[in-house]
Amino acid sequence: MSKALDGIRILDFTHVQSGPTCTQLLAWLGADVIKVEKAGVGDITRQQLRDIPDVDSLYFTMLNHNKRSITLDTKVPSGQAVLEKLIKRCDVLVENFAPGALDRMGFTWERIQALNPAMIVASVKGFGPGPYEDCKVYENVAQCTGGAASTTGFDDGLPLVTGAQIGDSGTGLNLALGIVAALYQRKTTGRGQKVLAAMQDGVLNLCRIKLRDQQRLARDGVMKEYPQYPHGQFGTAVPRAGNASGGGQPGTIVKCKGWETDPNAYLYFVAQAQVWEAICEVIGKPEWLTDPHFSSPATRLPRLTEIFSAVENWTKTLSKFEAMQRLSEHDIPCGPILSMEELMAEPSLRATGTIVEVEHPTRGPYLSVGNPIKMSDSSTEVTRSPLLGEHTDEVLAELGLTVSEVATLRADKAI
Ligand code: COA
Repeated sequence: MSKALDGIRILDFTHVQSGPTCTQLLAWLGADVIKVEKAGVGDITRQQLRDIPDVDSLYFTMLNHNKRSITLDTKVPSGQAVLEKLIKRCDVLVENFAPGALDRMGFTWERIQALNPAMIVASVKGFGPGPYEDCKVYENVAQCTGGAASTTGFDDGLPLVTGAQIGDSGTGLNLALGIVAALYQRKTTGRGQKVLAAMQDGVLNLCRIKLRDQQRLARDGVMKEYPQYPHGQFGTAVPRAGNASGGGQPGTIVKCKGWETDPNAYLYFVAQAQVWEAICEVIGKPEWLTDPHFSSPATRLPRLTEIFSAVENWTKTLSKFEAMQRLSEHDIPCGPILSMEELMAEPSLRATGTIVEVEHPTRGPYLSVGNPIKMSDSSTEVTRSPLLGEHTDEVLAELGLTVSEVATLRADKAI
């Protein structure tokens, strides 16, 4: 079977998480991704959070599947000459260096365009143009500066960062989409272009419902689906809403049987208006069906605490899976809190390739997330991440380098 991005060559200058997420996705879609790493060092994550001595970390292996690795010092002249050849040969250069690093290396947008006018240069940066554009950024900095931390957590607690890597992996996904769109546009213009995905922008984009709520708050001074309503105070900025639903249907997390000892014995429950009758029947509150205080979504809003407490009295008698089973029979939206341990063991996620087992020559078998995008005519086979410089000779041969040119690179410690 062919792949969606067959024939596309990516010069991959990415490291850590955000950029590698992008290029891994492009590789899963069929692009030939050549990861350029500093000779002798490699992507810093190869060594970070290692669980086995002298073996590439899971951090690295899980972000660099389906790629080839070459080592190249792009700051020495012989290495720069190889980089020029790569720029001429590839369709896309992807990088997530600190701001200005590519320019400092001598590869400005103008120089890259002169070498290959069709090249797309795609970058992740912490911030877009503005006061912070020169700053280095990691995941949690982006979560804090993009509005996620301010709006996550409980009213009486600290701002919280989330486990989902919305700043890094989320921005990597935005960049991948930008690249694919630029490749499509190039078909008609013949030109490359710059693609920028800033992490602050990506996080804020994902926090759009909070920007919505900020404007609602400014107009009305109150948000009736928030747990602060009706007894608490609202300030001028959108507060942290705990586990309240961000949509038009109220929801929260409720305890299930075993919650006293199991940190994941909980269920997310949505009090969807369309199935209110079923909710009242299932949780044993048929009298609410005729009580005007509970009869409409609007009259229920000041009583959400009472409603969810009744739901919880019922869910506490059942395991989270039993509760889900019962609620699903009545089309009541809900979801158990699944731990990583439970997700790893879930057969359906293995069957669809959402979680894959990969064999690695020095690590042995390990689990990774697979491609979350399923396509009927471009399937994904997840192959292991490359060892440092595993494909240097192969790629240099493809570039047509002679034996003596390769010897010079070695003498210069450029590869
Ligand atoms: N050969 C020679 N030099 C190389 C090289 C190679 N193959 N690859 C990288 N380098 C150099 C860079 O040119 C840079 O040199 P300079 O500082 O002299 O310009 C240097 O290595 C380090 O790059 P840098 O990106 O500054 O790494 P860092 O470890 O200091 O910072 C980040 C890491 C992630 C904070 C930073 O890259 C960043 O802010 N990136 C953008 C936002 C981002 O993606 N953040 C999320 C990461 S998950």
